[in-house]
Amino acid sequence: MIVLGIETSCDETTAAVVSGCRESVSVLSNVISSQIDIHKKYGGVVPEVAAREHILNILPVINTSLKIFNTQYSISNQYKNKKYPIDAIAVTVGPGLITSLITGIETAKTLSYAWNIPVVAVNHIEGHIYANFIKNKIFDTRHSTLETHHSKFPSVILTVSGGHTMLVLMQGHGKFKTIGETRDDAAGEAFDKAAKMLGIGYPGGPAISALAEKVSNYECRVSNINNNIRHSTLDTRNSKITLPRPMIDGVDFDFSFSGLKTALRYALEKDKQWEKRIPEYCAEFQQAVIDVLIHKTIKAAKKYDAKTIMLAGGVSANKKLREQFALKTSELLPDTVLQIPDLKYTTDNAAMIASAGYFKAKRKKFTPWQKLRVDCNLAL
Ligand code: KG4
Ligand code: ZN
Repeated sequence: MIVLGIETSCDETTAAVVSGCRESVSVLSNVISSQIDIHKKYGGVVPEVAAREHILNILPVINTSLKIFNTQYSISNQYKNKKYPIDAIAVTVGPGLITSLITGIETAKTLSYAWNIPVVAVNHIEGHIYANFIKNKIFDTRHSTLETHHSKFPSVILTVSGGHTMLVLMQGHGKFKTIGETRDDAAGEAFDKAAKMLGIGYPGGPAISALAEKVSNYECRVSNINNNIRHSTLDTRNSKITLPRPMIDGVDFDFSFSGLKTALRYALEKDKQWEKRIPEYCAEFQQAVIDVLIHKTIKAAKKYDAKTIMLAGGVSANKKLREQFALKTSELLPDTVLQIPDLKYTTDNAAMIASAGYFKAKRKKFTPWQKLRVDCNLAL
C-alpha cells in the first residue's frame, strides 16, 4: 500500500510517500521545509508566521515528494484516466497549532476530492509513535543493530516532544493507553526554556545537547533502578551544580519539568560566574531530564511487563538520552527490546504520519474528506 503523508502541525511543512507492507513501512520520499531559521530570531514559533509559511510551502513540498517517489508524478497531472498511484492520504489533524494544521487538512481534502483517494486522519502523537515502525536500522539492546523490524506488544512508549511528554502503553495497533504525562511543561519545552535562560538559542534541545558535549569531566551516576537516581554531580573548578530530578520517586508515571526550570533560574541568579559555565549548566540540566525520563520509563516497562520500549518525539533525538537508554535497558531489562527511531524520524516529519496512516488504512479507518476537522487538543 502506498500512502502520501502530510504534516503541518507546527513549524515544519512536510510531505512523504511510504510503502507499507505487513508490520512495517519503507520511506520512498520524505521532504521537510523547516522554518527554524525564521522563528529563531523570535526565540520560539510565531503561529501567524508559521501559518503563512505553510501556505507558501505546502504545494511545492508535496510536488517534490511526489517527484522523488516517481519522477512522472506531480499534483497537477491528469493520468489519462489511470488511477493515481497512491492508495491513501494521511494527514495530521491535531494536536497542534490551528492555523498551521488547517493548511495540511485543506490540502488533503482537496487532493482526496480531486484524485478520489481516501483520507486517514492522523493524531500527531500517534505519528511520532509510528516512526518506530519505519523500516530502518533499529537499535536493539540484545542484538545490537537489526535491519528487520519486530514489534512486540505490550510496548511502553516514551513520547517526548516540544508539546508533549507522555508514557503510553501500546497493546496493539491503535490501542493506546496514556499511563503518565507531564503536569506542566513538556520535556522539549523545558529544554527550549532553559536554553532561552542561558541565552544559547532556539530550539533549545540541540543547543543544550551540543554545549553539554563540551564538558569532559562530567560525572553522571544514573544508578540502578532500585535506588534513587539522585546523583548527577558536576565537579568543575570545585563548584558543584546540582539540579533536582522532579517527581523521580513519585508513585505514578507523571512528570513535571517546570520546577527544574525554576531551579535552573535560581541557580543562575546565585552564580555570578554562570556565563563562564554554560556548558556545565547544560550538562546538568540535560542529565536531570534524562534521569527522570529513563527512571520512569523503566519502572513502567517493569510494571506492564513490556516486551518493547520505544522512544518517540523530538527529544528522542538527544544523543545522551539514546545512549543511556540503551545502557540502562540492557542492564535492567535484558529481555526487553529497545526500539529507537532513526534520527531523521524523531523530529516532525511526514513519513511518520504516513506510517501511522498505513496502519490505520489497513484497518479501514478512513474519514470522508467532508468530515475532516482540525482538533488542536486531540487526545491520543
Ligand atoms: O517532535 P518535535 O519536532 O515537535 C513537536 O511535536 O513538539 O519536537 C521538538 C522539540 C523541541 O522542543 C526541541 O528542543 C526538542 O524537540 N529537541 C531536542 C533535541 N532535538 C530536538 N531535545 C533534546 N535534545 C535534542 N537533541
Ligand atoms: Zn512533533
